[in-house]
Amino acid sequence: MLQRCILRPYHVLAMVLCVSAGEDFDWTKNERTSFYYGTFPTGFSWGAGTSAYQTEGAWNIDGKGMSIWDAFAHKKGKIVANDTGDTSCEGYYRFKDDITLMKDMKLNHYRFSISWPRILPSGLKSEHINEKGIKYYDDLINMLLDNNITPIVTLYHWDLPQFLQEKYGGWQNVSMVNHFNDFANLCFERFGKKVKYWITFNNPWSIAVEGYETGEHAPGLKLKGTGAYKAAHHIIKAHAKVWHTYDMQWRSKQKGLVGISLTADWGEPVDITNQRDIEAAERYIQFYMGWFATPIFNGDYPQVMKDYIGRKSGQQGLGASRLPVFSPQEKSYIKGTCDFLGLGHFTTRYVTLKNYPSGLGDSYFADRDLAELVDPKWPDPGSEWLYSVPWGFRRLLNFVKTQYGNPMIYVTENGVSEKMLCTDLCDDWRMQYFKDYIDEMLKAIKDGVNVKGYTAWSLLDNFEWDEGYSERFGLYYVDFRNKNKPRYPKASVQFYKRIISSNGFPNQREVESWKRKAVETCSSSNQLLAAARRKSQGNQEHAGMQKAWPVHDEV
Ligand code: NOJ
Repeated sequence: MLQRCILRPYHVLAMVLCVSAGEDFDWTKNERTSFYYGTFPTGFSWGAGTSAYQTEGAWNIDGKGMSIWDAFAHKKGKIVANDTGDTSCEGYYRFKDDITLMKDMKLNHYRFSISWPRILPSGLKSEHINEKGIKYYDDLINMLLDNNITPIVTLYHWDLPQFLQEKYGGWQNVSMVNHFNDFANLCFERFGKKVKYWITFNNPWSIAVEGYETGEHAPGLKLKGTGAYKAAHHIIKAHAKVWHTYDMQWRSKQKGLVGISLTADWGEPVDITNQRDIEAAERYIQFYMGWFATPIFNGDYPQVMKDYIGRKSGQQGLGASRLPVFSPQEKSYIKGTCDFLGLGHFTTRYVTLKNYPSGLGDSYFADRDLAELVDPKWPDPGSEWLYSVPWGFRRLLNFVKTQYGNPMIYVTENGVSEKMLCTDLCDDWRMQYFKDYIDEMLKAIKDGVNVKGYTAWSLLDNFEWDEGYSERFGLYYVDFRNKNKPRYPKASVQFYKRIISSNGFPNQREVESWKRKAVETCSSSNQLLAAARRKSQGNQEHAGMQKAWPVHDEV
């Protein structure tokens, strides 16, 4: 690992922080390092998550249409090692085994997503409904319920039908609002008797910025300074429309909830006594979470976004702001369209002011006038961007409480990765990450934040978007080199299981024994994995000489 000794600029730049925290949250008394022993409220829901493209595989099976991720990953040079989600974890075939794993952990809920083109191959309801796709999700939902696991279902985890991209330009086109609403309505009709928690969009920030601004994600467009804002505008409208559809047509019969899942890092001012840093950190969060949350909870984009993007657009000689505008009717239609907030959170940045003079090119990042920094002391075991900073989680949760009227929150994603080549199932760093982040969430609940559930990301190692299989977020290790994709428990499975069965951290003595006990079991899993890999290597060598021997390792 690189030697780093001072705060260093991060490779992208970012946004806000509301320093006006809740009255009951005193930032100065908030000890960042002390551990709090205690338990979660009764009924707190523990779960794990995955998404369709990242785990299902079966990309062209049983009538499924192509998604933008199928198309993107099939282009050379877009994904690390040119990996694709074509087979991934083979979740489409192995969901029954996976439910057994969930049951063993005593999960209360499982968060997964529905692949839009698996159900509507072209994306259009008027064209063709793929009953085999419907059956797959129906079976999955039924089996979860049979095992007492509540399904939390995301309607859009990034896999837009490719046809809609080609024909209309995807989220650049306002017609997506109606097409998405048709798809959602079909899901409510077919699955709504059994599904009570719906998430419209997963992490729209990423859809907009990485899909339409930087092009790192599908559909790979680089429409700098405009594409992300336009995509986000349509996504927010689509979310609101789907919420209203549920509210008008299904809520009274089905009695479920519809929310959205927003992902945000925390942004901490580099110097908490410096007003310019405080404002830069505020912008960091407003351009991140506030971009979506403020219209949905309060009716319009954050003022600071309107000010900054408007001013910069003027300096660039544009007649109107690059940030689209909601009409008064739209504002009141969008406001209040969230029964619960899904929150994805992984890491934190320090933030300071950095001016981006106009003329250097428009971009979402330049619009924010800030720089991101990280502390070299923060642990960063896996993904380059993911530093473990547990105290940022408590701050973000309190920010949500203060800014958006203390909504009901389900943490929909939280976790940490390791690199592909790491085959050590004794994942001490992940146990530490979960322990510390979950504890900060417990402290936030004590602060009065209304958190109802927690979802570890992810149940399985899976396709990590443009990073392919090079980063592993799973509680379970997946051997992708074996065509059966066997799963092996990492030590964090045992550790998370104990958090769940104790509903928190009962006392120091007990919690301290958990890691020791988890490590005892993972060494035998390590041996199993090593033996299976040796066998599969042997098989491959043999296959090299004798041509194509299938590999059949099981856990
Ligand atoms: C958020 C995304 O929703 C999820 O799909 C991804 O795997 C995690 N971040 C980790 O990067």
